[in-house]
Amino acid sequence: MQTSRPLPTAGSRTGLAVLQGLARERSLLAALRLMNEQVGPAFRVTLPRFQPAVFVGPDSNRQILVTERDKFLWRPEGDPVCKLLRNGVLVIDGQFHDEVRGHMDPILQRRHVLQHIPAFWRYTDDIARTWRDGEERDMLVEMRRVALLILMGTLFEVEFMPDMDRLWQPILDLLEYISPGLWIFWSDMPRPKYRHAIEAMDEYLYGIIRERREELARLGVEPSPGDLLGQLVAHSGYDDDLIRDQLLTMLIAGHDTSTALLAWTFYLLGTHPEAMAAMQAEVDAVLTSRDRPPTVEEINRLEYTDQVIKEALRLYPPIHVGNRQAAVDLEVQGYRVPAGTRVMYSIYLSHRDPRYWDNPSEFCPARFERQGERSRPAFAYVPFGGGPRNCIGAAFAQVESKVVLSRLLQTFDFELLNADEIKPYMGATLEPRPGVRMRVRRRR
Ligand code: HEM
Repeated sequence: MQTSRPLPTAGSRTGLAVLQGLARERSLLAALRLMNEQVGPAFRVTLPRFQPAVFVGPDSNRQILVTERDKFLWRPEGDPVCKLLRNGVLVIDGQFHDEVRGHMDPILQRRHVLQHIPAFWRYTDDIARTWRDGEERDMLVEMRRVALLILMGTLFEVEFMPDMDRLWQPILDLLEYISPGLWIFWSDMPRPKYRHAIEAMDEYLYGIIRERREELARLGVEPSPGDLLGQLVAHSGYDDDLIRDQLLTMLIAGHDTSTALLAWTFYLLGTHPEAMAAMQAEVDAVLTSRDRPPTVEEINRLEYTDQVIKEALRLYPPIHVGNRQAAVDLEVQGYRVPAGTRVMYSIYLSHRDPRYWDNPSEFCPARFERQGERSRPAFAYVPFGGGPRNCIGAAFAQVESKVVLSRLLQTFDFELLNADEIKPYMGATLEPRPGVRMRVRRRR
């Protein structure tokens, strides 16, 4: 006898409100928010050809990510992200996933990430050096430039500056290729526009793999422990195709997320000048020199900065939803989920769930003071997912964002110029669109 209930859907009145919200805000995020408000923390979307089961809150997050994770596959194979990343660790399942992840986990451990602090600092300066005192810059663009230099320079040990302009558009095209779009409703939609971008990135990635293979063989040296490309070439036994898949995965998952986090943080600091001043005061007090990278000890002492970053990740989680596919018939929080259903755990809505967060829409870094953190249930806050498929780059992103932000606030003052027009946009990540325009003034 079946005791579980079918997932609730929108009745006609709610459905109309959802459609109006969709039309008004032109965003699926608005539709999900309305469904959550009016139907509850578990619901089914009923658009033609797109009917995911959506769950919100710590209990379902824990079930999907940890206790019943084996009943889920990552997501349907026809999704563009699967087509693009092929056998990248993000999109494979089962033993194969665990094996590939096993090769990469040690390289991204915090102790190796901390070795990259001087590089995080140097690449930030390389971009900031191109800013003229008093001019306007879009922090969404600038932070993408920083994040790309950092990712390539540290995990691949490749200087990306000479190739940045040439590969900028192909990278943006690939992000558009995997962003939610019409393909959700029309899975075999022809998309010839993206062929050139994929070819350009493949040519680049296969090129750096080949060069590293030759270099390691010629010099007979051991790659450094934090050099992902070198470690994969030297120790995984993988062919170039499988290494390409991991590099492209890390490049996309590892730079677009950090770009969004940094850009959102600038937006939040720009709209909360008192927080900007407090963070700058902390940076000035803790970082004892402007002429060398911060030490690990200094980075650990940037407590307020840490709270600001956590709060930015709460309000605008770059990955705002996790996708899965039910591998078997199952039950989530008492609701029936048939095998094959697309399942989403909403990070964005979990982070704004009024059952666990006071004044959820308010920017309040103090929530992340130690005491507040203890009183919240586990899995209410999941910016990096959770369980064995959590973000492999979480330590990297946390240290990177602290170094980049502290360096920039140490050397510049920032004034936000377009606060009113900024809205969350569901691209490959949740981005502040149309961008975060700021006036940058060098501090004396
Ligand atoms: C602010 C920055 C970042 C955020 C918010 C973020 C968020 C996430 C989330 C939520 C997941 C889990 C998704 C799911 O359950 O389906 C994830 C997975 C992943 N992330 Fe990140 N990420 C960030 C930075 C990075 C960086 C810097 C890297 C690489 C250096 C990276 C690489 C990955 C990979 C490869 C996975 C898949 C792991 C697996 O399936 O085993 N991410 N990330």
